[in-house]
Amino acid sequence: MNIDLIKKEFPIFDEKIQNNDLVYLDSANSSQKPKIVVDRINEFYTKQFSNVGRSVHYLAVAATNLYENTRISVQKYINAKDKNEIVFTKGATEALNLVANTLGQSYLKEGDEILITELEHHSNYVPWHFLRKSKNIKINFAEINEEGEITLEEIENKITPKTKLISITHLSNVTGAILPVKEIAQLAHSKGIIIVVDGCQGAPHLKLDMQDLDCDFYAISCHKMYGPTGLGVLYGKKKWLEELPPYQGGGGMINEVKKDRISYGELPNKYEAGTMATAQVIAFDQSIKFLESIGIENVMKHEADLVEYGQELLQKNNSVKLIGNPKNKGGVLSFTIEGVHPHDIATILDEDGVAIRAGHHCCQILHDKLNIPASARASVGIYNTKEDLDQLNQSINNCKKIFNL
Ligand SMILES: Cc1ncc(COP(=O)(O)O)c(C=O)c1O
Repeated sequence: MNIDLIKKEFPIFDEKIQNNDLVYLDSANSSQKPKIVVDRINEFYTKQFSNVGRSVHYLAVAATNLYENTRISVQKYINAKDKNEIVFTKGATEALNLVANTLGQSYLKEGDEILITELEHHSNYVPWHFLRKSKNIKINFAEINEEGEITLEEIENKITPKTKLISITHLSNVTGAILPVKEIAQLAHSKGIIIVVDGCQGAPHLKLDMQDLDCDFYAISCHKMYGPTGLGVLYGKKKWLEELPPYQGGGGMINEVKKDRISYGELPNKYEAGTMATAQVIAFDQSIKFLESIGIENVMKHEADLVEYGQELLQKNNSVKLIGNPKNKGGVLSFTIEGVHPHDIATILDEDGVAIRAGHHCCQILHDKLNIPASARASVGIYNTKEDLDQLNQSINNCKKIFNL
């Protein structure tokens, strides 16, 4: 696999960012976009634009077909059983809110318990917190071990007879830990518990097979998958999507509307109210084609090599403290440098063209647990190279010099 050639598919790397070549190490936040995705958005708006699912004129029918083609591509990419198990949302955040809201309306009852983990992004905590407030549902937390992992045993220990739902990240956006989702799903189902997965960091970096993982819901963020912003995917098992009530009301999601009654549309329309992110959905088909052209196994191998290399480099760099050391780790390197605020680290690295993220990464529970207010995070994508990580290390050394470390 030739990473230089892959990198050439991303126009942003032809740009000078503040007179520097871009070393982009913020893909866990959002990935850069290949030209085919950007071009597809442009082409759709300039030559093919129409709203979908409404009018019967040529452009409308063609756009609807393109929109539905992406649904089939996503279904195949994640090996869902049925294309109607794929619901487009405005992001993973909306996907998780949809699940929490609809289960809250119709399934979860006062006194029920939900189990999440200390690794969760706020998107996989706050929507459940709403239910804690409105329905008096209890939220329990599975705790990380010293390596920043969540083990199957810890999940098992935290399940009580009242646990109705487990909602976990596939891959932590801070420690990089990959959770044993398949085993957790088996355990959950053996006890009649629903399993929801925040797949934001899983989908761009891991091979996905919904039928094998057997989770009930899986949330995907398209902008982290070399795709457009404003778009997410909710995978939901058909039986749940059929059974649960709609999330939002409006055009497109209804069957019949009368003064005294309303019936809802079939799947997946029931969950796609209003004008959807049409151009983004159509362009996302190209993101999937891009990932398929490389092969997810190759993506995984490349990113595993990178993270191993980066981890070794940073481990050797004294005064850099890596956060977590999971056995099964994705492409995330979070760290602190004693005496330097992560925002200062990120600002100084930025002067060399090295783009990382600093803050709590929407994981305040985890940072509280680690007793730190924030951390710096370098995260990799398919376009990164070992040279990028050398530059990261070099820029960290520059930062240390400024702080006399
Ligand atoms: C683990 C995790 N969950 C959820 C989200 C939210 O995703 P979205 O931006 O698609 O709403 C993110 C994005 O940062 C994330 O990293």
